[in-house]
Amino acid sequence: MEYSPPLFPKLLFLLLIIIAAVLHHSTARPLPLSAATSYPKEALPTKSGYLTVNSTSGSAIYYTYYEAQNPHKNTSKISQTPILIWLQGGPGCSSMLANLYELGPWIVNQNLSLEPNPGPWNNIFGLLFLDNPIGTGFSIAASPQEIPRNQNDVAKHLYIAIKEFIALDESFKTRPIYITGESYAGKYIPAIGYHILKENQLLPRGKRVNLGGVAIGNGLTDPGVQVATHGLNAYNLGLINEKQKAILEELQFEAVGFVKSGNWSEATNARTNVLNALTNMTGLATLYDFRRLIPYQDDLVATFLNNVEVKRALGVNELLVFEVCSDVVGDALKDDVMKSVRYMVEFLVKKSVKVLLYQGQCDLRDGVVSTLAWVKKMKWEGIEQFLMAERKVWRVDGKLAGYVQRWESLSHAVVMNAGHLVPTDQGVFIINNK
Ligand SMILES: *[C@@H]1O[C@H](CO)[C@@H](O)[C@H](O)[C@H]1NC(C)=O
Ligand SMILES: *[C@@H]1O[C@H](CO)[C@@H](O)[C@H](O)[C@H]1NC(C)=O
Ligand SMILES: *[C@@H]1O[C@H](CO)[C@@H](O)[C@H](O)[C@H]1NC(C)=O
Ligand SMILES: *[C@@H]1O[C@H](CO)[C@@H](O)[C@H](O)[C@H]1NC(C)=O
Ligand SMILES: *[C@@H]1O[C@H](CO)[C@@H](O)[C@H](O)[C@H]1NC(C)=O
Repeated sequence: MEYSPPLFPKLLFLLLIIIAAVLHHSTARPLPLSAATSYPKEALPTKSGYLTVNSTSGSAIYYTYYEAQNPHKNTSKISQTPILIWLQGGPGCSSMLANLYELGPWIVNQNLSLEPNPGPWNNIFGLLFLDNPIGTGFSIAASPQEIPRNQNDVAKHLYIAIKEFIALDESFKTRPIYITGESYAGKYIPAIGYHILKENQLLPRGKRVNLGGVAIGNGLTDPGVQVATHGLNAYNLGLINEKQKAILEELQFEAVGFVKSGNWSEATNARTNVLNALTNMTGLATLYDFRRLIPYQDDLVATFLNNVEVKRALGVNELLVFEVCSDVVGDALKDDVMKSVRYMVEFLVKKSVKVLLYQGQCDLRDGVVSTLAWVKKMKWEGIEQFLMAERKVWRVDGKLAGYVQRWESLSHAVVMNAGHLVPTDQGVFIINNK
């Protein structure tokens, strides 16, 4: 049976977002931003600044918030309009990449000008970008020692930041919060969701965080399982031969061995070896999307954000050097990379928190096969029904958009014509098909 959104009103918010994105047609023109001009006023976030996570040291998470442009029809009241929190992966990559290159209302073009995004995720939801953990993007780590080294510590800081954000505006208190993000945020998202549920259990109703659900795009969540899928996946796509598959499988076996023995640093190195070998064998420009002739251009965002006028407009210290991904944060979390948070996803699903796992189909790092490999291992009483549930064809305006499968609180979506950065590629899809 064909999937049609109006018949399934409860299908998850991401699908609504993608649909909204596809339906949205913007007529505004790009605003040139030469080195000397300031940030266009209409492109500025509704709110931005710092959320202190440690008042002793001064460490703080940088945020930008964009209010919903057209609150969802059914929730015309802003006090009921959901707020989406976006977390970038890495470890150590800035959510400003998502903001200005993927799903924010304004994106940086080839000329380093801002132009309206044809598919902004704040179309019907409030949208909050957090540079997480401290030390990432414009966030401030008072000392390298304070940068979290595991998911519990990441979640503690995020929790403080989210509570502080909610306290900024009376209307935020009632709004459902959805935690979203991609890639290595496949670790952060379950971790903060889990932490919120644990904290909520200890708090009276009025003080709880109103967690509506979570959505993970092309996530790394159960790395020991996911790292074992590359060889067969690439072979089935026709990208490598049997001999190369065998070489990859040997490297994968090493990575899995280090995970089993708890040698976390070597496990991370071994995964890098797998991905490097796959890149080498295939000669692809990037594993993030096997169709791409050039990699995603995140350098546009870095160049843009290092403009002094831009920093002033966004309220950040002009002396901060913006890096899309921080090596210092990457190093701090190196031993965490290969540790699984599958049990946290299981906890969320069991507690009936809506969980959406979506993947751009052309990603060779954390794609569909890689995700489904750990999903089928989930310990949850509904997993058999999920696996047996019908996979529905999903069309937008009559065009094939992907596939959707759902059972109770767990949903899985394949997004066609997209790689690792689904929101960026959906934008391209929209423009090409207008
Ligand atoms: C929106 O409202 C319509 C009409 O009241 C209802 O049929 C539909 O289920 C609602 N959709 C959502 C997402 O609540
Ligand atoms: C806050 O900063 C102080 C001083 O650097 C440090 O001792 C403490 O561990 C930090 N607390 C948290 C929760 O990060
Ligand atoms: C960039 O600038 C050139 C020259 O002014 C113009 O032709 C082109 O359309 C611009 N590209 C975008 C994406 O705005
Ligand atoms: C991890 O593996 C490497 C390479 O085999 C080895 O040199 C190192 O001692 C191991 N570390 C631990 C903590 O087992
Ligand atoms: C792959 O690795 C081999 C051996 O290290 C090297 O000679 C070759 O140039 C590499 N190929 C590509 C496409 O990077």
